[in-house]
Amino acid sequence: MTSWYDADGHLSEDMIADFRQTLLTWYDESGRTHLPWRIDKEPYHIWVSEIMLQQTQVETVIPYYERFLAELPRVQDLAEADEEVLLKLWSGLGYYSRVRNMQKAAQQVMADFDGQFPSTSQALQTLAGIGPYTAAAIASISFDEVVPTLDGNMFRVFARLLKIDADIAQPKTRKIFYGIILPIVDPERPGDFNQAVMDLGTSLMSAKTETFAESPFARFNLSYQDGTELTFPVKSKKVKQVQKFYAAIISEKDGLLAYQQRPKTGLLANFWTYPLVEFDSWDAIYDGVFEQFKDAKQLNITPVTHIFTHQKWQVMLVQVADNLDTWTYLSDDAYEALPQTTLQLKLQAALKENL
Ligand code: ADE
Repeated sequence: MTSWYDADGHLSEDMIADFRQTLLTWYDESGRTHLPWRIDKEPYHIWVSEIMLQQTQVETVIPYYERFLAELPRVQDLAEADEEVLLKLWSGLGYYSRVRNMQKAAQQVMADFDGQFPSTSQALQTLAGIGPYTAAAIASISFDEVVPTLDGNMFRVFARLLKIDADIAQPKTRKIFYGIILPIVDPERPGDFNQAVMDLGTSLMSAKTETFAESPFARFNLSYQDGTELTFPVKSKKVKQVQKFYAAIISEKDGLLAYQQRPKTGLLANFWTYPLVEFDSWDAIYDGVFEQFKDAKQLNITPVTHIFTHQKWQVMLVQVADNLDTWTYLSDDAYEALPQTTLQLKLQAALKENL
């Protein structure tokens, strides 16, 4: 049995060739090759279908696609169409900015490209509403550019086949998948390769489908082989960033400054900073500080900000006349001897600037 990786840990050329052939044979026999936008490769047609398919199911799109092209058969017709006509043709598909952008792009094609669609994924991305995915779809399907159409389906299919555990919620992961998939795309039939993966991703390898032993893709599917298929792709939940508002208290006594050790748990545990007083909001800081401390004076206009993984802290330096016995007064030398956090260093720099 062949394997995806050779002895050096590189993707095996034999396995890639085997996979391409299996995929394209399956596509020719079982794919949705009858879909109306798969009948020809005219870039205008492919583009219209890809924009419609962005947020809409295939079955819903079919009649819209056919009506749209019957009414506006050439890119020039779209460029010159009345908005009313466009909105009518789009009515029910939703996200009307899609069709407004399409008309802008059609006008760009007429004005800047002599009525001919640009033929590379790079150049296609200069058109309104065309991002990396749509550009790759048009370039591969219409112009045979060897480029993968990276969308959620493709991430899932290849994450499962190759056990790629990069987090697809992270924007930088796109590059990782691109690098792995690009050499697998069939150089003879890149458009069919991409559309075959789309079909695979909505049938044998849909989100909820587990591979079965007789599937033609079972032998390519590393996650199926070790029973981890449904754990791919890895997608972290986006954690909402929490905003926190603090006053950093600058309190002087006999030439010493006040510091306070952070609690034993939580962010910056046990580190020493200027005493930090937390408030619920900026408004609360303004009111709260002046209520709580004698002769409070705000030193910085723009707060010092510090981003932790899931928290954004905004800190205002406030000079006060009070001395609290819960604060520790230290000389510069004694303070410098303590381990410093980045936040404290930022506060110190801001204090120097604003004193
Ligand atoms: N979804 C996005 N593009 C598609 C295409 N070309 N065929 C089927 N489904 C798609």
